[in-house]
Amino acid sequence: MYSEKVMDHFQNPRNVGEIENASGTGTVGNAKCGDIMRIYLDIDENQVIRDVKFKTFGCGAAVATSSMATELVKGKTVQEAMAVTNKAVMEALDGLPPVKVHCSLLAEEAIHAALWDYAQKNHIEIEGLQKPKADIGEEEEEEEY
Ligand code: FES
Repeated sequence: MYSEKVMDHFQNPRNVGEIENASGTGTVGNAKCGDIMRIYLDIDENQVIRDVKFKTFGCGAAVATSSMATELVKGKTVQEAMAVTNKAVMEALDGLPPVKVHCSLLAEEAIHAALWDYAQKNHIEIEGLQKPKADIGEEEEEEEY
C-alpha cells in the first residue's frame, strides 16, 4: 500500500534532529490524530535554506513526508521553499494512500510556520506566506462534534 520511496524515507528518514539557534522553527499539531511536527531552518544572509531538521511524534507517513519535504527545501531560497506543497511532496514520494494525506500536511504547515518565524524575526515578508495555524485540521474536527 506504500510506495518504495515512502518506505525508504520512513525507514531511513533524512534530516532528523534539531538545529541550535535556528533561523526559524515551526511546530504544528494535527488535530485529527494528535500528532506533532517541529521543523528547524538554518537560513543564510541570502535567504537560502542552508540546513533543515525535523522532529516528529507522528506516524510513518508523517515521517516519510517530512523527510522528503526537508530534502526538497534544502538549498532552496525561502521563496522557492513556498512551492514545496504537500502535493509536491506526495508526488515526489510516488503518492500516499488517501487516508494518509492529512499526515503530509504536517510537514508543509511546519515548514510554513518555521518560515513565518524566520520572517518575523528578520522583519521580512515572504510572498504567499500566511500566519500559521497552531493546529491543522481543526475545522474538520469541530464538525465532528
Ligand atoms: Fe497523525 Fe499520520 S496519523 S500524522
